[in-house]
Amino acid sequence: MDWLNIEFLAPAMRHAHVCDLLEAAGALAVTSLDAADCPVLEPAPGQTPLWPEVRVVALFAGDYDPQPLQALLRAGGLVAVSCEPLTDDDWVRRGQDVTVRHFGGRLWVCPADAPAPAPDACVLRLDAGLAFGTGSHPTTAGCLRWLAEHPPRHLEVVDYGCGSGILAVAAALLGARHVQATDLDPQALRATADNAGRNAVADRVHACEPAALSAPVDLVLANILAPVLIDLAPSLVALLRPGGVLLLSGVLESQLEGLVSAYSPALQFRPARVDQGWVCVEAVKQ
Ligand SMILES: C[S@@+](CC[C@H](N)C(=O)[O-])C[C@H]1O[C@@H](n2cnc3c(N)ncnc32)[C@H](O)[C@@H]1O
Repeated sequence: MDWLNIEFLAPAMRHAHVCDLLEAAGALAVTSLDAADCPVLEPAPGQTPLWPEVRVVALFAGDYDPQPLQALLRAGGLVAVSCEPLTDDDWVRRGQDVTVRHFGGRLWVCPADAPAPAPDACVLRLDAGLAFGTGSHPTTAGCLRWLAEHPPRHLEVVDYGCGSGILAVAAALLGARHVQATDLDPQALRATADNAGRNAVADRVHACEPAALSAPVDLVLANILAPVLIDLAPSLVALLRPGGVLLLSGVLESQLEGLVSAYSPALQFRPARVDQGWVCVEAVKQ
């Protein structure tokens, strides 16, 4: 089946009215997105904050006549961004496409069926499923580059917030003795187990709920947003042995100071690396 995709910009105060209008006009789905660059980071439970300006995307059946609705919205001073046909596709999976990427040293991430990119490559073959983590986001890429530079040979590792399992599987491929991968999302635990099997490291990567983790370990990898990392500070510190390393990612430059104070003095921070405004930083337990 084909669809018609109509997008409008609306100020936050008129958002509810626009959504009602679109639904009354027969929209099959209405999605609200950030129209500028105003990230809403991990809102508290029960809160649904809006961006100052919202991009509203409405999906209609392919044979819908958009003219009357467009005229109505225009008369209300709303700006149409686009009105385009959309062919059927699996859009969730499209967003999870994996491409061939090199992260330094021998570490490559490739789609499951791609040929090896180099004769001596350490190839992580990935299908992200519905979970986060294809290697394309700077927060994941920062952790993969760090792992390529510091292969965790013979180490006990925890991947906290494992998503697709990309970091857990990379750690195992780079020589970790054992990796515990955990996440709140059951889809992530499933994707991690699948990717461990796909890369023949299922005997060294175990996906489990956070409460089932065992400590102490040598290395904890945690690519989660800063407010969550701050809340998790006591738990992540407790997982590490003295001298163990915590690699934190998912943190904006402006959030680094708050993060460092949440983990001090238990951890000693090393200089951070920044990629497109995202910080990846390692710290050692005292
Ligand atoms: C940004 S993704 C990172 C995925 C993957 N590790 C990577 O580097 O691409 C963050 C993951 O952390 C999980 N997460 C968020 N809060 C969590 C918490 N309190 N405990 C465990 N996992 C959490 C999310 O479900 C998500 O899969």
